Amino acid sequence: MRVLLTGAAGFIGSHIHAALRARGHDVVAVDLMLPAAHGPGAQPPAGVRRVDVRDAAGLDLLLPGVDVVCHQAAVVGAGVDAQDAPAYAGHNDYGTAVLLAAMDRAGCGRLVLASSMVVYGEGLYRGPDGIVEVAGRRSDDLAAGRFEHRRHGVALTWAPVPEDTPARPRSLYAASKVAQEHYATAWAAATGGTVTALRYHNAYGPGMPRDTPYSGVAAIFRSALAAGRAPQVFEDGRQMRDFVHVTDIAAANVAAVEAALPGVEPLNICSGQPITIGDVARTLAAAHGGPEPVVTGAVRSGDVRHIVADPARARQVLGFTARIDPAAGLAEFASAPLRPAAAGVTVG
Ligand code: UD1
Repeated sequence: MRVLLTGAAGFIGSHIHAALRARGHDVVAVDLMLPAAHGPGAQPPAGVRRVDVRDAAGLDLLLPGVDVVCHQAAVVGAGVDAQDAPAYAGHNDYGTAVLLAAMDRAGCGRLVLASSMVVYGEGLYRGPDGIVEVAGRRSDDLAAGRFEHRRHGVALTWAPVPEDTPARPRSLYAASKVAQEHYATAWAAATGGTVTALRYHNAYGPGMPRDTPYSGVAAIFRSALAAGRAPQVFEDGRQMRDFVHVTDIAAANVAAVEAALPGVEPLNICSGQPITIGDVARTLAAAHGGPEPVVTGAVRSGDVRHIVADPARARQVLGFTARIDPAAGLAEFASAPLRPAAAGVTVG
């Protein structure tokens, strides 16, 4: 198949590029090479062209003959402050809108979209009487070390999040990922196109960008260990996530490109094996040979307590099951190469 891959030089995009080529696909690989992600003056790697997805004329040259677009180009991270809003809106929302219009002009009707578990916001919780809607946690609870969501004084437990959970974006990045999904859904309705939106959970693996304010926690812990510092585990370390290896994310994209699912299909892309942040730190530290993590009790503003994926639908409709167990994958990640940090918001 002929595939237009955007964000092909990023952490996730470069793994997808390799996986698509290994399957014999004809990949038109593009990346903007933003200095904020790749460093000043960075040139595209071999086989990747410098293209901005906001450049309609540039896309018009590339899209004829393309069967499916695999859209990974995005400004990532949670957003540090309001000054990041235009970058998210420009690269993510507007870039997707320009791409969708160009796909319509070229008669390309299939989109595989990089989405994120951040669309779910707080995640899903269960009380004694079933599933409970939660808002943000109270600052007096957090200050007193009561980290779990509570209802009538009773701590709630996490539940796996299925894809039909309503979107509740809590950050600028999350707002842009929800917007991308909504634009793509409206485009599909208007054109008869199809969209597979892959909601990545916590990605990690070789080539992950180093520690920046925008990095995921695996890179932050990994960078601390490399510098001989103890990973700082916030809250009580019992907050739960699903860590999915970047080669599994690449495999899910290849499956989505090849499966050509009908309609609009959002799918959790996860390992299906949730792990606490404390165990992530302990696994990395043990494999690295120390130093031991420190559980600080600190609370980072805007953090959600638990977010755990339900992997069932991706298995049913895409036949996707992650191959890498987080315990093994994180132990290997303890000595995997990272990509050098760039100064600003990163582009995947
Ligand atoms: C992260 C990303 C989100 C991305 C998602 C999926 C950020 C800020 N968040 O969400 O954009 O879409 O993964 O890949 O980039 N923690 C520590 N010590 C630290 C740093 C963090 O204990 O030094 C804890 C946090 O308090 C949190 C957990 O680790 O409980 C996960 O943090 P992080 O990976 O940054 O954010 P997510 O909320 O999982």
